[in-house]
Amino acid sequence: MKFVLPLTLRFLFTVAFLLDRLGAAASLQPQIPSIASFTASDGPGFPISSSTQIVVDSAFQNTGSPSLLNYANTFRDDLVSLTGFTLLPWVQAGSLEGAQTSPVVFLTLGATGHEYFNGVATDEGYDFAISSQSYIINGSGPIGAWWGTRTLLQQMVLTTESSDGITLPAGSGSDTPGWEIRGFMLDAARHWFEPSFLADLCIYASFFKLQTFHIHASDNLWDQNFISGPDWRILYSAFRFQPSPGSPIAGLAPLKNETWTRDQFADLQAACAARGVTIIPEIDTPGHSLHITKWKPELGLPTTPDLLNLSQPDTIPTIKAIWDEVLPWFDSSEVSIGADEYDASLADDYISFVNEMAQYISQQSGKSIRVWGTNEPSTTLSIDTNVTIQHWDFPGDSIPVQLMERGYRIINSEQTFLYLDGKTSDDGQFPVELDQNLMWAGAPDGGGWAPNIFTRDDSSNNTTPQNPLLRGAIMAIWNDWGNNATTPLEIYYQLARSLAVFGEKTWAGSGVRDTQLTQDQFNSIYDTLNAATPGQNLNRVVPAQPNNVIFQYQTVFQPLTSSFDSVGPPYTLTFTIKPSSSSQISVPLFDGTSMLVPFDGGVIFSGNDSKLHVQSLAFEDPTTKVRYPLLYTLPTDVYTTVEIHATRNYTYAIIDGEAYWWMTDLDIWGEYMKPANMSFAAPSRLIRAEGFDGELYNVSLVLGS
Ligand SMILES: *[C@@H]1O[C@H](CO)[C@@H](O)[C@H](O)[C@H]1NC(C)=O
Ligand SMILES: *[C@@H]1O[C@H](CO)[C@@H](O)[C@H](O)[C@H]1NC(C)=O
Ligand SMILES: *[C@@H]1O[C@H](CO)[C@@H](O)[C@H](O)[C@H]1NC(C)=O
Ligand SMILES: *[C@@H]1O[C@H](CO)[C@@H](O)[C@H](O)[C@H]1NC(C)=O
Ligand SMILES: *[C@@H]1O[C@H](CO)[C@@H](O)[C@H](O)[C@H]1NC(C)=O
Ligand SMILES: *[C@@H]1O[C@H](CO)[C@@H](O)[C@H](O)[C@H]1NC(C)=O
Ligand SMILES: *[C@@H]1O[C@H](CO)[C@@H](O)[C@H](O)[C@H]1NC(C)=O
Ligand SMILES: *[C@@H]1O[C@H](CO)[C@@H](O)[C@H](O)[C@H]1NC(C)=O
Ligand SMILES: *[C@@H]1O[C@H](CO)[C@@H](O)[C@H](O)[C@H]1NC(C)=O
Ligand SMILES: *[C@@H]1O[C@H](CO)[C@@H](O)[C@H](O)[C@H]1NC(C)=O
Repeated sequence: MKFVLPLTLRFLFTVAFLLDRLGAAASLQPQIPSIASFTASDGPGFPISSSTQIVVDSAFQNTGSPSLLNYANTFRDDLVSLTGFTLLPWVQAGSLEGAQTSPVVFLTLGATGHEYFNGVATDEGYDFAISSQSYIINGSGPIGAWWGTRTLLQQMVLTTESSDGITLPAGSGSDTPGWEIRGFMLDAARHWFEPSFLADLCIYASFFKLQTFHIHASDNLWDQNFISGPDWRILYSAFRFQPSPGSPIAGLAPLKNETWTRDQFADLQAACAARGVTIIPEIDTPGHSLHITKWKPELGLPTTPDLLNLSQPDTIPTIKAIWDEVLPWFDSSEVSIGADEYDASLADDYISFVNEMAQYISQQSGKSIRVWGTNEPSTTLSIDTNVTIQHWDFPGDSIPVQLMERGYRIINSEQTFLYLDGKTSDDGQFPVELDQNLMWAGAPDGGGWAPNIFTRDDSSNNTTPQNPLLRGAIMAIWNDWGNNATTPLEIYYQLARSLAVFGEKTWAGSGVRDTQLTQDQFNSIYDTLNAATPGQNLNRVVPAQPNNVIFQYQTVFQPLTSSFDSVGPPYTLTFTIKPSSSSQISVPLFDGTSMLVPFDGGVIFSGNDSKLHVQSLAFEDPTTKVRYPLLYTLPTDVYTTVEIHATRNYTYAIIDGEAYWWMTDLDIWGEYMKPANMSFAAPSRLIRAEGFDGELYNVSLVLGS
């Protein structure tokens, strides 16, 4: 096993282990999210070894999509990656009694009585029973069994290995999430992300039993100086679904290189579904719609081109045409039409629009819709109650308890607790990560936040965990400052701990179960679980190297490929360089002649998550292609030693005793500019990468900043 635990924990685990050897009942380790109930029993526990057999009940192996068998195979992959047991037996279908080898992890279905806190039956629950011979996971549906495999893996990584290997304590338990919707939203409109990164986020979230990934897929930057002036077409906007060639909406996505194709999106949905996560796509209209007005300017309201004029006869048909194109892409039974921050003086237009879209999307695809809670006061009309309201702004845009009184189903995304902004927010409005103090003690009574809590101030504005109209909660990370505010990995750094605490609070709630985690318990296990999360490597961890030296070369005359695609911070990258002084280079042509082209010095290092250019020693993010220059120019006539220090919060270079920081400049609503630090993973794959043509000596990459 790869996990190193603090000494105090080791001592406790040793005691637990000795008790176990004596046959006394041992308990499960606390994990994230907490398990609803577990009763330890006497006797030896379940050993994990390279001969552990996974058996899927043949009566249920093909039930569901993904099926129980699909989930079992993914579980085996994870078990192999966490234990290193590459020869672990393949998954078999059969019965518990018929299993040839023991001990056996047995996945079956049929568990009954699993209900969300509101009393609605769910297939997300599971019972489990652990003995020396078997670890039985009995799901109320395939997804429940999947969550049960996460429980087993978390126990395994939190349990210390003894000379006999890892033994999970004997006993039996039962576990069910409190709410039907437990997820996170990413603003993938104002920042471009590759599908592979989005898939990694799903995989990460799934380890903490989150099951909804809401992707905000169309929007624009918001800057009053542009919106209300003649230059609004310059403001960045995007619609991320690439229309098919010749489609009537082809004009909607001019930057093809920043869209997902239908195949890519299908793969992304499948990668998430394989781990129990559903993608809920959002196309936001009639506000946040510059992507539409850049294409059809006549549809915008005159002074606010980001808002569509819903009375213009072509507006709603255009929005329907957009949904016609992409509805067949989506696997989810619900989609979000956004519908936030529209003009409140046009309330009747807004409400009619939402109702018309609810009906249209239902007719075309059978899907139902969600909208953001939006203040649109009308004396005559109201939104159909089969539209789910995703509340975000108390009390300005909606008062959830009052909406529930009128029969609306609610998802809690209240910004006071659940909003983040990429890198930073306007004047500290939102924290960098979910505020742990609010999560653990932010309710009006001093208890922890949970989906039934909308405000800290007045408990009459909150509801009970049992409210049948409360569907769950979705936390959100926005990218209000656009593509150049963060790298994708910086978004992960903000989400990593946030998703884990959110997993606990949306699964177990606050004050409902006596097994819920304490903040101290969460803090003592989070790092171990984060490091162990299988199926992705968002931390960009590399195999341990002697003295933490990733590589070290005295001279680099030729382009050199390392075996490290990218190395996550903290690290120190040092080199001595004398760039070529040429301002032009000769490029060979097909006819055998050559031509001189301007030369910017080339790329010194490149990797999957970053490149380092000679020119202004700029780091480049290969996803967005944004460059972050230093206020520094390398001299071409002398050797310069550059020592780069990186953490998850910043990157700086020491050159001739001076520190230079890689920064960006955030345009905060067009009101002021705010400088911010940038973090980059090390560009470790290629040394003397694209076109570098100078001298390079004493290159080293060492872990630790
Ligand atoms: C799974 O749960 C159901 C309902 O409690 C039960 O009938 C069935 O025997 C259980 N399966 C196993 C293998 O324990
Ligand atoms: C919206 O469009 C309608 C129909 O073209 C038009 O009558 C109306 O004046 C427009 N609204 C605004 C605010 O311009
Ligand atoms: C929601 O209700 C409206 C009006 O009753 C109806 O037209 C629409 O089809 C319903 N949508 C769904 C998803 O049930
Ligand atoms: C909830 O909050 C609002 C605004 O803060 C207030 O007007 C209202 O009376 C509160 N209580 C209920 C039960 O809605
Ligand atoms: C790095 O990129 C290459 C090429 O796209 C890919 O094959 C590889 O899996 C990536 N490595 C990591 C760690 O993401
Ligand atoms: C996409 O193309 C545009 C226009 O050529 C360019 O400005 C932008 O940097 C490209 N984006 C990416 C992610 O390559
Ligand atoms: C990075 O910033 C976060 C949030 O601002 C802070 O909690 C953390 O301690 C910082 N880490 C380092 C290594 O400076
Ligand atoms: C980032 O974008 C803003 C405009 O949104 C611009 O003012 C700033 O210079 C850019 N910073 C970098 C490093 O590209
Ligand atoms: C960048 O990070 C350093 C070290 O934490 C900090 O001192 C500095 O204030 C940060 N710069 C900005 C603009 O936030
Ligand atoms: C590289 O390091 C060695 C040993 O410290 C030193 O002698 C040499 O001068 C360095 N090379 C350059 C070009 O600075």
